[in-house]
Amino acid sequence: MWGGRFSDKPSDIMQAINVSIGFDRRMAAQDIRASKAHADMLAAAEIITDTDNVALQEGLDEILLEIEEGTFPYRDEFEDIHLNIEARLGEIIGETAGRLHTARSRNDQVATDFRLWVRDQLDGFDASIARLQRALLGQAEAHIDTLMPGFTHLQVAQPVTFGHHMMAYVEMFGRDRSRFIDARRRLNECPLGAAALAGTPYPVDRDMTSSALGFEKPMANSLDAVSARDFALEALSAASICATHLSRLAEEIVIWTSAQFNFVSLSDKFTTGSSIMPQKRNPDAAELVRAKVGRISGALLSLTMVMKGLPLAYSKDMQEDKEPVFEAFDALSLALAAMAGMVADLTPQKTNMEKAAGAAYSTATDLADWLVRELGLPFRQAHHATGEIVALAERQNKALHEVTLTEMQAVKPQIHAGVYDVLSAAKSVASRTSYGGTAPNNVTAQIVIWKKKLSRVKT
Ligand code: ARG
Repeated sequence: MWGGRFSDKPSDIMQAINVSIGFDRRMAAQDIRASKAHADMLAAAEIITDTDNVALQEGLDEILLEIEEGTFPYRDEFEDIHLNIEARLGEIIGETAGRLHTARSRNDQVATDFRLWVRDQLDGFDASIARLQRALLGQAEAHIDTLMPGFTHLQVAQPVTFGHHMMAYVEMFGRDRSRFIDARRRLNECPLGAAALAGTPYPVDRDMTSSALGFEKPMANSLDAVSARDFALEALSAASICATHLSRLAEEIVIWTSAQFNFVSLSDKFTTGSSIMPQKRNPDAAELVRAKVGRISGALLSLTMVMKGLPLAYSKDMQEDKEPVFEAFDALSLALAAMAGMVADLTPQKTNMEKAAGAAYSTATDLADWLVRELGLPFRQAHHATGEIVALAERQNKALHEVTLTEMQAVKPQIHAGVYDVLSAAKSVASRTSYGGTAPNNVTAQIVIWKKKLSRVKT
């Protein structure tokens, strides 16, 4: 394709380091789409004839069919997907194929194809994160008042509900979706027509190709158009944050399914057994989701290192942009699907969670708040008195509500029997009515809001 000034063939090693068809074939459909738009524009601008355009369109359609049917011959000798398709076009329609590459370069071509590919993925993520949010919402709705301990430092802190906990992740994944939507908006400008780096003398209509490919507008600077990869970095960084959230939820599932916690159980669908220990049920899917973040943030780091220090405009280094993105996005898609499946599949062990919710003096803050409210104590004094009562309970190995009134009055004489009203986990949860708090009414209101938001997302 470019051999005019060459008399010798490249060495095998040169071929081996140069070839990218093994991975960039994943952009075949995008390449054809962009080529078809480019050919239409060339004809409209009278750079090629309509007859030539018809031949190009038909040839490209045929290639797309071959690709879909799995009969397209991917060949290493043509380096990458762009040259493979052009070579095949030549075999199908003859010399006219050579007109397609007028007023473009592989540099704007690859930048365009890759943007189209990443854009498709971002749209897919929006839908698959929304599916996960729906699964979380389903659990939240079923467990609006299922009590569980809330933790800080993984130590029991205050009672919350399982519904509230699920909704925390609905919020996180909502921000992940908005990060992808944001990245898509900035990505959505068209490099095509920037040609090799400096633009082209042909009277191209860049607005036409841009809108035919669903872009907002053509990129305004040809050097930037062929050398920008921040769209991929941004998508990877959103992917990496999303994978971090998945990893946190996965870790909670691993903890919750352990015999020591036994807060939730997973079915056979998302667990595996052990080849030696017959009693085992392992949360492998959760563990693998927890691990995928390594690959995904690794990809972000990897592409960042490829791009750092690259002078303008195109350098072949940029061919190394695709594999990390492909790998990271495959991993994220799978992790999202696995997590949505696990969340829908899991069964909270209500009795165990509720028991744990009231244990470990989880309502001590409620006692302190009661002392403030009922007895008018400054919070610091109330905190101290509560600490003494907890210590006393601990010494006698009993729960807060089992401490007798006389014992409490030994710490603060003004305490009266009304105190027992706030010492249960259910009362504690119901009292947390501040905006964003765990009270079931709040959680219900958030569920209603999210259901409405999610009904607008296509999946
Ligand atoms: N396979 C190349 C890539 O992925 C296409 C662009 C080649 N451009 C060039 N000037 N050699 O980056």
